[in-house]
Amino acid sequence: MEVDDRRIYVTGGGSGIGLRLAEMLAARGAHVALFDLRLADDVLHRVEAARIRSERRVRGYLADVADAAAVAEAFRRAAEEIGPPDLVFNSAGISCPRAFADLSQEDFERVVRVNLFGSRNVAAAALPLLRPGSKLVFVASMAAVAPGYGYTAYGSSKAGVFAFAEALRSELAPRGIDVAVVCPPEVATPLVAWSRTVRPAPTERLTRFAGSLGLDEACQAILAGILGRNFLVIPGRRANFAYLLSRLLPKRLAHAISDRIVAGALADSGESQRGPGGPTPD
Ligand SMILES: NC(=O)c1ccc[n+]([C@@H]2O[C@H](COP(=O)([O-])OP(=O)(O)OC[C@H]3O[C@@H](n4cnc5c(N)ncnc54)[C@H](OP(=O)(O)O)[C@@H]3O)[C@@H](O)[C@H]2O)c1
Repeated sequence: MEVDDRRIYVTGGGSGIGLRLAEMLAARGAHVALFDLRLADDVLHRVEAARIRSERRVRGYLADVADAAAVAEAFRRAAEEIGPPDLVFNSAGISCPRAFADLSQEDFERVVRVNLFGSRNVAAAALPLLRPGSKLVFVASMAAVAPGYGYTAYGSSKAGVFAFAEALRSELAPRGIDVAVVCPPEVATPLVAWSRTVRPAPTERLTRFAGSLGLDEACQAILAGILGRNFLVIPGRRANFAYLLSRLLPKRLAHAISDRIVAGALADSGESQRGPGGPTPD
């Protein structure tokens, strides 16, 4: 896929993977529209500074992806101002790494609303604007294909994103519109910096198993992947290995390995398994 003079919409473009990818696309000549809950002043400046051609446009729009009407309106305005998108990169997402017994109904619903319903809302807003040759990319996670301790909400929301993207790919292929899904392992972003301070010890150790990538390294691999034709993009060699293991190993064996890691982390951290208590009601 060509990038120069193309229009790229990036949700979650105010931070982390979305922002870095937006800078990389601007550096290849794209017009860029960023969508986020908040956009700090320096964010638009960073993307503008990355442009190779000063006539390329960079715009920012405030929108909550969980709000279908707000995303549709923001996309409509962007289409008026910079033109309909050639590539939509849906990076907006949140995480709430917590054992299910400690996870409130409200937190569970919030994660699913932003990650899964947000993907649905972004696709619905983009659909009327997409033409043959354009592309929709959803950021899921390794937790979509190999969910573990602490990721009941996040893992199920991202597995939903994966399934949604795959079904949508089948529907849009006849119209010449491409769909891809990105499943990164841990990438050093503000989301992860926060997550590391709150996630349970077993989640921390399982995450390390799939490897951790620097932001530039991850975004370079993501960019190369989404400019190609693959449906599934997994940045990082170690993450690709972990993915293959999760597909090839019998579940019983995969679970035995994961259970050993969890047991070791619980023992080392002094955290004990919870009793039969249920999740926190709201
Ligand atoms: N970093 C990783 O290790 C990793 C691994 C696998 C998958 N992912 C996925 O990659 C994507 C980007 O993550 P990241 O690490 O780059 O996180 P990040 O640095 O927090 O960037 C995500 C951006 O999305 C925004 N956002 C959150 N909820 C939103 C909403 N309802 N509407 C619009 N924007 C919203 C965030 O705003 P606030 O900061 O205000 O919340 C933030 O600016 C997410 O979908 C995440 O699940 C990340």
